This record gives sequence, structure tokens and C-alpha cells, in this order.
Amino acid sequence: MTDEQEYVNPFQAEELARGYDAFYETPLGATVDRLEKRLIYRLARPRAGETALDVGTGTGHWAIDLARKGLKVTGVDTSEAMLAVARQKSAAVAWQRGDAQALPFADYSFQLVLAVTTLEFVRDPQVALAEMARVTAPGGRMVVAVLNASSRWAHFYKAQAEKQETPFAHAHFFVPDEFVVLLSRWGKPTWSSAVFIPPTGRGLAAADIIEWLGQTGCHFVGPLFRCRHRGALLVGRVDR
Ligand SMILES: C[S@@+](CC[C@H](N)C(=O)[O-])C[C@H]1O[C@@H](n2cnc3c(N)ncnc32)[C@H](O)[C@@H]1O
Repeated sequence: MTDEQEYVNPFQAEELARGYDAFYETPLGATVDRLEKRLIYRLARPRAGETALDVGTGTGHWAIDLARKGLKVTGVDTSEAMLAVARQKSAAVAWQRGDAQALPFADYSFQLVLAVTTLEFVRDPQVALAEMARVTAPGGRMVVAVLNASSRWAHFYKAQAEKQETPFAHAHFFVPDEFVVLLSRWGKPTWSSAVFIPPTGRGLAAADIIEWLGQTGCHFVGPLFRCRHRGALLVGRVDR
């Protein structure tokens, strides 16, 4: 994108916002969600009573789950349409309109700062990460999850975006090395990836074993399981 082109957040559309959660209702979506939660929470280690910020909260999928775990959660997003859905789903989260690149919070406000599939859609991910670092309390952590450009899911989303208008036409997918370098500016990242089943849903019944093989790195099994560089969702944690 050039500076002259105005950036439009594709998630402003009401219809898209209303249908956003439907994927989680499918068998594939429910499994993907379970696998993503397992890794994100393994890295984030959320604890009841902590303050948390969910950046690019969307319809509040993560923010609401963290609130259920007893955290005091704020969800921030630029899309009023996505926030409207989130507000209808839960009053347990403080929903706020705001830009990840200029977070409307004081320095060191949150113990856990999370962003799940948000940086792909932000104009300047470096600025967003700097803002996340700014609002993370000393001793707190940032946990960032992005779609992996080296995964079959990214290829699927790109192919889909060539045929129809989807938000992924506007997304920047990250390769693992790029992701790790991006996070390293804020501390030494701990990272892995989740979701090794393909978007076709093939292998769904064996999703857990495929996940284990993927995350532990079994090169000998074949090209399907090339360790943490191939999972659909790259997840990294940086301690502050
Ligand atoms: C793919 S959705 C992810 C939503 C949620 N994190 C989840 O995992 O379900 C991306 C979200 O990022 C939001 N977003 C995009 N650019 C943003 C920005 N500059 N500041 C805050 N939110 C932004 C979009 O409005 C959208 O809700």
C-alpha cells in the first residue's frame, strides 16, 4: 500500500461482523479454536484477577474467554461493527473503540496484552507492537498471534481472496522469521505455531496427534509435518 492510498479496515462491514463467529460453530472451526486456545493459553498463562487488553478484539472471542477466566479485560478495536457484536455478547468486558497504533491507554496499564490475528490488518505492525509494549506493565507480557504465510491456510485464504471479496485480500501474512524478528525488538520471544490440520478439514479426527507431531517437529513423517514453522497460527510471547 502506498501512503496515498487510504487504508480501509475490511472489518467495518456490518454483515461481515454479524457472520464473523459462524466459523467457530462448524466442526472444523471448533477444533481450530480448541487448538489455538491450547497454544495461546500455554504461552499467555492468564491468571484470574489480572488486567488484560485484547487488541483488535473484533467480536470479543478472546476477550470474553479471558473474562470468563476471571481477568479484568478491556477489548479495543477500530471497527464499530465488530464492537457492536461484542457488546451484545458480553457485558463482562470493557469495550472501547481505538486504534492499535495509538492505544487510548496510559503506559503500563495491563499485565497481559494480547493481539490475535490483528497485526495482519494494521497499517503499521511495528507501531502497533510499540504501543502494545508501552501499555504492558513491567513484569507483564505481550502475546501476539498472526496467520502464517508458510501455512496451507494462508495459501487457502489468498486463493479465496482472488475469487471473492474477503478481508484476507487486505491482509499481510507473516513468515515465521519475519514474525520472530518483529517481536524480538521488544524482548526475546518464545514462540510456536498451532493448527496443523489443513483448511479442507482432512485429518480432523486425528487433529490432536497431528498437532503434537507438528509442534514437536517430526521432519521424518513427511512434508505435512514440518515442525512449528508450518502451523496456521504463529504465536509469540514477549516478557516485559
Ligand atoms: C481477523 S479479526 C480478529 C478479531 C479477534 N482478535 C479474533 O481473533 O477473533 C481482525 C480485527 O482487527 C481489527 N483491526 C484492524 N485494524 C485495527 C487497528 N488499527 N486497530 C485496532 N483494531 C484493528 C479489525 O477491526 C478486526 O476486528
